[in-house]
Amino acid sequence: MTEAATRAADLRAQLAQHDYQYYVLDDPWVPDSEYDRLMQALRALEAAHPELISADSPTARVSGAVALGFAPLTHGVPMLSLDNAFSDEDVQAFDKRARERLATEAEIEYCAEPKLDGLAVSLLYQAGLLTRAATRGDGATGEDITANIRTIRSVPLRLRGAAPVVVEVRGEVYLPFVGFEKLNATAAAQGQKLFVNPRNAAAGSLRQLDARVTAARPLEAFFYGIGAWQGSAEPQSQSALLEQLRGWGLCTSAEARAVRGAAGCLAYYHQLAERRATLEFQIDGVVYKVNRRSDQLALGQVSRAPRWAIAHKFPADEALTILREVEFQVGRTGVLTPVARLEPVMVGGASVSNATLHNMDEIERKDVRCGDTLIIRRAGDVIPEVVSVVLERRPPDARKLLLPTHCPVCGAPVQRLEGVSAARCTGGFNCAAQLKESLLHFASRRAMDIEGLGDKLVEQLVDRGMVRTPADLYALRAEALAALERMGEKSAARLLQAVARSRDSSLPRLLHALGIRDVGESTALALSEHFGSLAALQAASLDQLLEVPDIGPVSAASIHAFFANPANQQQLERLRAAGVHWPEHEGRAATPRPLNGLTIVLTGTLTGFSRDEASEALQQLGAKVSGSVSKRTSYVVAGEEAGSKLARARELGVPVVDGAGLTLLLRGERPG
Ligand code: IVH
Repeated sequence: MTEAATRAADLRAQLAQHDYQYYVLDDPWVPDSEYDRLMQALRALEAAHPELISADSPTARVSGAVALGFAPLTHGVPMLSLDNAFSDEDVQAFDKRARERLATEAEIEYCAEPKLDGLAVSLLYQAGLLTRAATRGDGATGEDITANIRTIRSVPLRLRGAAPVVVEVRGEVYLPFVGFEKLNATAAAQGQKLFVNPRNAAAGSLRQLDARVTAARPLEAFFYGIGAWQGSAEPQSQSALLEQLRGWGLCTSAEARAVRGAAGCLAYYHQLAERRATLEFQIDGVVYKVNRRSDQLALGQVSRAPRWAIAHKFPADEALTILREVEFQVGRTGVLTPVARLEPVMVGGASVSNATLHNMDEIERKDVRCGDTLIIRRAGDVIPEVVSVVLERRPPDARKLLLPTHCPVCGAPVQRLEGVSAARCTGGFNCAAQLKESLLHFASRRAMDIEGLGDKLVEQLVDRGMVRTPADLYALRAEALAALERMGEKSAARLLQAVARSRDSSLPRLLHALGIRDVGESTALALSEHFGSLAALQAASLDQLLEVPDIGPVSAASIHAFFANPANQQQLERLRAAGVHWPEHEGRAATPRPLNGLTIVLTGTLTGFSRDEASEALQQLGAKVSGSVSKRTSYVVAGEEAGSKLARARELGVPVVDGAGLTLLLRGERPG
């Protein structure tokens, strides 16, 4: 070998190792800059010595050529599909059939794996070199996607270690949630059509005639099977096969487990179903495979599915249904939220008849019309949402949706400001919907804390005209209360006591209770600490408001406008006259506290504390506790079943800590 050839081989080996560390093991050894330096060196060497360019060179992952179409490729061994199980009974029946066929009473060992919701692919390695890659197609013949598969950085261009003469490895190409969201955010910014789900996005990304487009999409692949195999002995179990795939440097699922009998399968299923929302990728069920290879061969296959494996599907989290009507709900700040009223349909194991449409922009972007057939999604406990319209099923009389010009509750004009998605009812406290929500907020535990003032009671108080503003709560009389539905003398007396107790308040609680736009609990606290008294805050200029930590131009403007409004001034006077008092807030900022300057988001179920308790304690230590994750978040504390906030934190690279991290924070220490 020439010196250049040796150097090229050395650089390729180093780059392949770094790709493996980074993309497969998630454990990079060197900074990106070092990787880039090696890549540069290899590119320069290949430019000077074109004869050295080889198919397994990491410089050759992305081909510049645009294909005219995808050529058909016949699989060495057909790609099978799986039978489905939808219930525990289906799984027990599958296990029973297998035991009968194997003529055994003993528990069968299964390999249980997540069923990834992506695209099945088959990769052909000859003497260790990736030579062909194909989609599943009809099982016998797929499409040649070699150029596209080569762009996936976790896919080795050459297998590590000893490889058989020929092996087809099978797996699933998918797009993690984070990549999916990024892709859709970019598409939205460019006014392009959004992908409906990660699976479609992965499919769209892989089937690109220009592999440079595929290269720009953060695709991943998991491998779980083999097709053709020549030249050495096959692994003797599914677990051993996964081990072998890992040994070659291919990604396999970290969730795969050997389990015993139907009971072991079901325990695995239920455990994974609970953690489903915390996974970084979409799965639609689990797959159980009889572990021993000899048993698999004995069981064989029927038509196109093996008798030794079954897919146990999670309840579908997407379904089709028809949009009957759209109603607009009015929230505390007057924002109109369109809500889809649907033909009831089962999604994710529950009947769904309403879904949120967020705002008018969303309706326009998705082009939703009354009478349309919609795809509805419900993941975990989140509010069902409209994914998209099935345009093929649009009836000719489908009706376009218009923003009402007047509030559906109070009839006041609806205002939609230029460039803002939200439309608002301008009725203020004259709007029963806004008033009801404002009262519930005013009375909530972390605001004025009026125990017993729930929505049924607020409903009656407003509908009967007994309360027109929050200050009216302090003028309620026992007899009138006792006469309301579900109320008696005792509950009326209890409520009045709670109302009386709430007079003894604090500045942060009062500011939070007022429901000033953009002022949540932590902003209320920051304002109190900064200004010390309501009088000082009321007198503050915009510039003075901007001096408060964490207050930006938008919230400063909201606060300023709130105190400039005579109706609000009058409201505060009436509260004061009703005996509500809020002592001046002692400037605590003078003594620095251990968590000063940190912004923390709590998500999921915490062990040992309620979220409120943890939040209170963190604020006592000087931290700001926020409800949403942004670049400025210092830590996300993720408990059990943390969902979208955790995903957002990962996307933004915000540090995530668990219960142990929370304990450190509560001791006033900062997790490293
Ligand atoms: S095994 C002979 N394992 O599900 C066994 N399939 O419904 C063939 N899939 O076409 C497949 N995750 O695309 C297997 N861990 C997994 C899987 C998996 C996802 C897909 C695969 C297959 C389809 C069958």
